[in-house]
Amino acid sequence: MRVGLSLLLLICSVFCSEITDKTKLKWWQTSIIYQIYPRSFKDSDGDGVGDLKGIISKIDHFVYIGVKAIWLSPFYPSPMKDFGYDISNHTDVDPIFGTLDDFRTLLTECHKRDIKVIIDFVPNHTSDLHPWFLASVRGEEPYKDFYVWTDGIEGPDGTRIKPNNWLSVFGGEVWKWNEQRQQFYYHAFLEEQPDLNYRNPKVIEEMNNVIRFWSEMGVDGIRVDAITNLYEVEDVSLNEPLSEKPGVPEFQYEYLNHIYTSNLPEIEGAIRGWRNAMNEFKTEDGVPRFMVVEFYETPEKRNAYLGYGCDLPFNFDLVDPGITADCGGRCIRDMVDIEYSALPKHSWPNFVLGNHDRKRITKKRGAGAANAMNMLLLTLRGTPTTYYGEEIGMEEVYVPFEDTKDPWGLNYGKERYTEFSRDPCRTPLQWNGDSQSGFTTAEKPWLPVHDNYRTVNVETQKTSKELSPLQLYKQLAELRENTAFQKDGRFLGRIIAHTGNMKNEPFYKEDMEVPLNGILLQPDQGLVIELLNKRQEL
Ligand code: GLC
Repeated sequence: MRVGLSLLLLICSVFCSEITDKTKLKWWQTSIIYQIYPRSFKDSDGDGVGDLKGIISKIDHFVYIGVKAIWLSPFYPSPMKDFGYDISNHTDVDPIFGTLDDFRTLLTECHKRDIKVIIDFVPNHTSDLHPWFLASVRGEEPYKDFYVWTDGIEGPDGTRIKPNNWLSVFGGEVWKWNEQRQQFYYHAFLEEQPDLNYRNPKVIEEMNNVIRFWSEMGVDGIRVDAITNLYEVEDVSLNEPLSEKPGVPEFQYEYLNHIYTSNLPEIEGAIRGWRNAMNEFKTEDGVPRFMVVEFYETPEKRNAYLGYGCDLPFNFDLVDPGITADCGGRCIRDMVDIEYSALPKHSWPNFVLGNHDRKRITKKRGAGAANAMNMLLLTLRGTPTTYYGEEIGMEEVYVPFEDTKDPWGLNYGKERYTEFSRDPCRTPLQWNGDSQSGFTTAEKPWLPVHDNYRTVNVETQKTSKELSPLQLYKQLAELRENTAFQKDGRFLGRIIAHTGNMKNEPFYKEDMEVPLNGILLQPDQGLVIELLNKRQEL
């Protein structure tokens, strides 16, 4: 493999006659973003759940694998119905993860090593135990209209019934009757996650203040959660039309076309507001804070958001449905090409292989595909996001229904939970061959560790004599740092690699000939490589 990488560099050097000026690139264009699911990264206090001190103790891992930016899924106070995405205080740390001082230490230690810190910003909803919601239930100002309340409609026997047919992303009802207030409230996700009312300027201001709080502390960027669901139409008498998708039960989100609850134009204003709030604070390096939004949509729809003030909309084309088992080289190439061809001029591409909501790439392509997939991700022009564990080729763990924690899975019952449960992709990072893979000293972590942890772990792969996924990952990250890999604010090469023959064999060949203008090898050769010379527009 080393030969392969040097070959690549050599080719690149031939073309890269100009010295790279990396200063033209912003940090989020040259960094790999590494997603940490805090519950599952490293437990420092033996309670079986990962925490901030655990992350601090492993900062050298980021240095070793060469990631320059970490994104933390929520660590804020939460009743944990949706494992942190149900926030009861946006400006503190849940005791299970540590304290605000721990977070400050993490930030300082990362910054010392030139690693940026991105946090999760969850604007769409709060926990039903958030003080705003509790006050709203009591009808207290200024919180009375902080959430989406409705009387519903009068049923035949005088009872109140829900106003429309809308469905929750997690399946089932979006309207929950509240006895105390005698009204329904809207929840796009769990009933314990009431939606904030973005038609209320006070809500907008409060959420801008959340951004101000973390920006002032020095966080480098935000990942915006569930942006699609931010607004619903005001007229709640409108039913959403059926999607007519075959085989989708009435309970399931995909049963409807979400024309009144998803991707409404008002979102633009909210994003612009967050951008302005972030820009109020100076950054150490003069680069504005980074904003990436979570958005499962077509390239046209997601790219529209680029004009609103976010830096990137996540490109989930490789994730959802993504690189499924039957997607060969050409299929992957086509998905990649869409990102490049649909991007507005001067915009920056990005790629993702997995996250805490979707099946791991090794689940879809087999464990042997880990190297190929990391090569693909890390050699494509654009910002790559790595989900923790991908660097060692971590696999999913089967979790029986009885042990299932994820509410999305539980909502679908024993019959269908495996289609929706996110537990299998959220299991503890495998650090070493010790008990519970060195993740925790507890007897039982919050989710089980994969049985293969004695061989598939960071320590073993670090010291392995043979090129391990971790070592390859590190080499690829180094490759990205090489000046030959970047030019004039853009990556020079555009390399698309895949496993071609589906046997997941390494695809670099020592004796491979690479013509000067891009080539496309046959599927069984497993590599597509295209290098662009400096006169070509990327
Ligand atoms: C986003 C998160 C997901 C969460 C949901 C509700 O999609 O990525 O984990 O369950 O929002 O907050």
